[in-house]
Amino acid sequence: MNVSTEFNSINGVLVPLIYLISATLFILGLKRMGRISTARSGNTLSAFAMFLAVIGTLLEIGFVDYRWIIGGLIIGGLIGTVAALRVRMTEMPEMVALFNGSGGAASLAVAVAVVWSRIVEQQVTSLPSEVLGVSQSVTVGLSIIIGAVTLSGSYMAYLKLQGKINKGRPILLPLRHVWTAVFTLGALALSIYFAFFAADAAQAGTIILIVAGASLVLGVLLVIPIGSGDMPVVVSLLNSYSGLAACATGFMLNNNALIISGALVGSAGIILTQIMCVAMDRSLLNVLLGGFGAQAATSGSGASDEYTSVTSSSAEEMAMVLFDSESVVFVPGYGLAVAQAQHAVRELTDLLTKKGIRVSFAIHPVAGRMPGHMNVLLAEADVPYDYLFEMEKINSEFKSTDVAILLGANDVCNPSALDDPSSPIYGMPILNVHQSRSVFIVKRSLSPGYAGIKNPLFEAENASMCYGDAKKIINEVIEEIKTLK
Ligand code: TAP
Repeated sequence: MNVSTEFNSINGVLVPLIYLISATLFILGLKRMGRISTARSGNTLSAFAMFLAVIGTLLEIGFVDYRWIIGGLIIGGLIGTVAALRVRMTEMPEMVALFNGSGGAASLAVAVAVVWSRIVEQQVTSLPSEVLGVSQSVTVGLSIIIGAVTLSGSYMAYLKLQGKINKGRPILLPLRHVWTAVFTLGALALSIYFAFFAADAAQAGTIILIVAGASLVLGVLLVIPIGSGDMPVVVSLLNSYSGLAACATGFMLNNNALIISGALVGSAGIILTQIMCVAMDRSLLNVLLGGFGAQAATSGSGASDEYTSVTSSSAEEMAMVLFDSESVVFVPGYGLAVAQAQHAVRELTDLLTKKGIRVSFAIHPVAGRMPGHMNVLLAEADVPYDYLFEMEKINSEFKSTDVAILLGANDVCNPSALDDPSSPIYGMPILNVHQSRSVFIVKRSLSPGYAGIKNPLFEAENASMCYGDAKKIINEVIEEIKTLK
């Protein structure tokens, strides 16, 4: 047996084994990410699974030019590290959007490279389905379509989240549904034509480039009608698309690890999308058809003028009420992340619990700008996990709560969702803070939240506005409480 045959036979056993271990670790990692306490180790486990998958792939393809691999590892690793270190918590959805786009770009690039290296450069005269095989020539088209839609859609989502396109508001092109249908059906039809009818290499190459171009336009068309308020749902959906693109690429390359990891990302993304839609009481179709937020965002700027009877209070007054209470519920929202007030809140929590006051945190599933935003923020400040309660668990507690404190939270406590059928958020489940004995709303002004609408809670008899940056206010409250004995 020569060296090469021996290497191949070892690989025949080793590679599937590595892929199997990698896939198992991916599943275990994903499972651990489902709980806050185990999420960090789940992430490490999944990263290790990815490392194994890369090793398996390198062994499977045999001897390659490692200069390219090492070069790619260094450049990609540097970009990832710098991005992860520099990104602010409030910009995380933008970063996830860009990373999803990179996943789509990778699938697109690999599929185009397969067509170029196996068909165009070889000047083949047979049909792609004969050269690549039926399933591979079909999955080439799918990789290109889903990859390109993910790439341009994710980049659009990034620009929208940054408010760089129409200030994040929906752009409703005339006949947009017709254009979307034309580009979708056109790309699908051409990719089938490529697989079964492309007469020669030049035609196959041209068709594949047209499919890629049409799919890039399709990604833009699908995302621009959606307002930035719904963008986290779209980012999650695009995450699922990037998984599907990877899965299609896995079929194209006959790579089991890619098929399994792509399928896991695809299904996890779609489950998360569904959870977010349920939490906002919207159907996925309603989000995807777009337009939500166009009218709310316009009315938003004037919403502050509509308040007539708002009570306000100082940090000193809040401290006194807190000092005399038995139970306090903090409701964190997007403003807490903006103010980076999580450490101050932790300090206040410690002060209150030492005094024997029961402190809880009410977590709304879409508080903040991405799933789990508040959990991550509070975990960063080491707020104990058992102080955190999901909406369903804590909503019945508000009736017996002395003080509820909204920290940069707004839409997630807006009672219009319960009693105003004309409200754009009507039907969205909210945290029932209005049922507490007293409510303090810590924010800088009467400006609306993401939905761009008025919040009647600000005028409620038991509610009081405490204007200012959340971190500054909480620090003032801490100082006041320390002086009260
Ligand atoms: P919002 O309703 O967006 O309200 C955040 C509030 O924070 C604003 O009203 C703002 O008021 C205040 N704020 C900003 N900076 C602050 C600072 N430095 N200090 C104190 N307050 C500050 O936030 P929410 O209650 O968390 O609701 C989330 C919204 O995002 C919902 O509409 C939800 O549907 C949407 N959304 C979320 C997700 C996910 S997955 N989380 C997905 C899709 C949509 P001032 O400017 O007056 O300070």
